[in-house]
Amino acid sequence: MARKKKITKKFIKKSAKAHPQEELLLQPLRGTRDILPQEQPYWQQIRRVSEKAAADFGYQRIDVPILEYSNLFARSVGEGTDIIEKEMYSFQSRGGEKVSLRPEFTAGVARAYIQNGMNVLPKPVKLYYIGPCYRYDRPQAGRFREFFQFGCEAFGEQDAILDIQMIQMAWRILYLLGIRNAKVHVNSIGCPACRKNYRNLLVRYFESKKQKFCFDCKRRLETNPLRILDCKEDKCVQVAAGAPQSFDHLCDECRTHFKEVLEYLEELEIPFELDPGLVRGLDYYTKTVFEIYSESPEDAKNSALGGGGRYDGLVKTLGGENTPAVGFAIGMDRVAAEMKKLGARAYREPKPRVFLAQLGGLAKKKSLKMFEALERAGIMIAESFGRGSLKSQLKVADRLGVEITLILGQKEAIDETVIVKDMTSGNQEIVDAARVVDEVKKRLKK
Ligand code: HAM
Repeated sequence: MARKKKITKKFIKKSAKAHPQEELLLQPLRGTRDILPQEQPYWQQIRRVSEKAAADFGYQRIDVPILEYSNLFARSVGEGTDIIEKEMYSFQSRGGEKVSLRPEFTAGVARAYIQNGMNVLPKPVKLYYIGPCYRYDRPQAGRFREFFQFGCEAFGEQDAILDIQMIQMAWRILYLLGIRNAKVHVNSIGCPACRKNYRNLLVRYFESKKQKFCFDCKRRLETNPLRILDCKEDKCVQVAAGAPQSFDHLCDECRTHFKEVLEYLEELEIPFELDPGLVRGLDYYTKTVFEIYSESPEDAKNSALGGGGRYDGLVKTLGGENTPAVGFAIGMDRVAAEMKKLGARAYREPKPRVFLAQLGGLAKKKSLKMFEALERAGIMIAESFGRGSLKSQLKVADRLGVEITLILGQKEAIDETVIVKDMTSGNQEIVDAARVVDEVKKRLKK
């Protein structure tokens, strides 16, 4: 067994010398923030609505590590993407492994699917997740370095109806959260076979306009020409507007698949637009890709509330069986901000209906047990035990608007009774402490 080191004066002196005073910055890292109690009702509402929708649509929760081997993300999201090239939080662990904080969930969930042999489960395997992601991007409105996603992934089904179920679910969650003006942008980027032809066409078109590109797009022309379509620089947007469009160059299978997606979308009456510039910032996508935007006039095009698509090649790329898959994620930070802006309903904690006040040493001791008995019985109860005077405790009870206040004074504590005060009529009654739960329940029912 390791022996504990004795903390002597000499030890403290030595350790202070080894760690000279560094400036303590009382602030979180750039692009990260605290989500304070007053913000939590929005977040709680997002969690509740999303998790309920996931359960309704047959999805089961999965948690994957925040930290994974860096090459998992490089292989999934793609070497030439901004996320991998510029935005990963990567470092070497003490054991020398190259690891990264997850920039998104899909890669980790696909890894977990393969590693845990989920391929033998009845298809589609439907999983959902919720948690933080990290991208070292330039922080701005709606863009953080630590942000939170809720998302769903379905493995093992290639039918277009699943692509639509994803869109339907994402849209429905936003709708239930009070975001009624959301619009889906949709595109198909085809399979690797038809994308190759399209890519060649695109490169030929872009080569002739190369001098007009921003610095990044000049590089993208070599590494990832599709991403030029997604560039927000004015001069690149202008060039991209005249580019060939992917859905005009799909192979027969991809065209039929996309046609079905559009037909289902019309059937569902979800507002959508065909967006030829939508290519997404992750390389694993095939066929359908989509993003959801709030249609508020002041919303910039670069703040999607959610996005997703099909990724039929990812599981195989990572070493699993050939497995079609599709998914989406919504950005909880952006959704919370949008809810606030629209004045949407946040979660309201159920209000306490009973207040327990106490006075005197013995009563104070007994009040803890009485509180626990009521709480165990499922009664929403509040207290303010730290306050000494009865008057100030009753003030709190008033402010909370409870229906019943229980008063445990010195006499009641000795007699093993409690005063039950009806806050509407003001009537008081002394009740046996052993009967307090039943008495409160009876009164609340009334
Ligand atoms: P994504 O489009 O990169 O897709 O992220 C999904 C959503 O996360 C975005 O629409 C946005 O709301 C939010 N988000 C992304 N980056 C930030 C940021 N820096 N700050 C705040 N919010 C952000 C994915 O991550 C894919 N894994 C989605 C998916 C699942 N595709 C298939 N399955």
